[in-house]
Amino acid sequence: MKILVLNGPNLNLLGEREPGIYGCDTLKSINDEIYEAARELGYDVTFFQSNSEGGIIDRLHEARVDCVGVVLNAGAYTHYSYAIRDAISAIKIPVVEVHLSNVNSRDEFRKNSVIAPVCCGSIAGFGKYSYILGLYALNNKLGAAHE
Ligand code: DQA
Repeated sequence: MKILVLNGPNLNLLGEREPGIYGCDTLKSINDEIYEAARELGYDVTFFQSNSEGGIIDRLHEARVDCVGVVLNAGAYTHYSYAIRDAISAIKIPVVEVHLSNVNSRDEFRKNSVIAPVCCGSIAGFGKYSYILGLYALNNKLGAAHE
């Protein structure tokens, strides 16, 4: 049982990118923590980051055959990518939307997520713990299938 942790644009720069908003942890150190948490829950986990919309969409398509669920931080694409939204709709596995920052307390454009309606839920504002909470949420969603 494998979970995909998928990160979108600019998240490869975590650690140096606006640390006051996104924290000082690098994507690698966050992924290491997710890996441990996933293992404790009994999942394999695979990580992917892309700065391009097509890269994210291609990996979502692949996930439908190799993963049971996705924790997705689509970065700014969250707010306007109907193509990513359609990719999430197209695959049958659950996708949890996560954000490091509290998108509702920032710029107006960040308050709208075009992917939220097709995700099984959204978690924002808890820094790197948003990913861990997303993992737990996915585990809960997968429920009996995993037991
Ligand atoms: C983000 C929030 C988005 O608005 C922003 O464009 C990002 C990161 C977050 O994790 O808080 O790139 O998804």
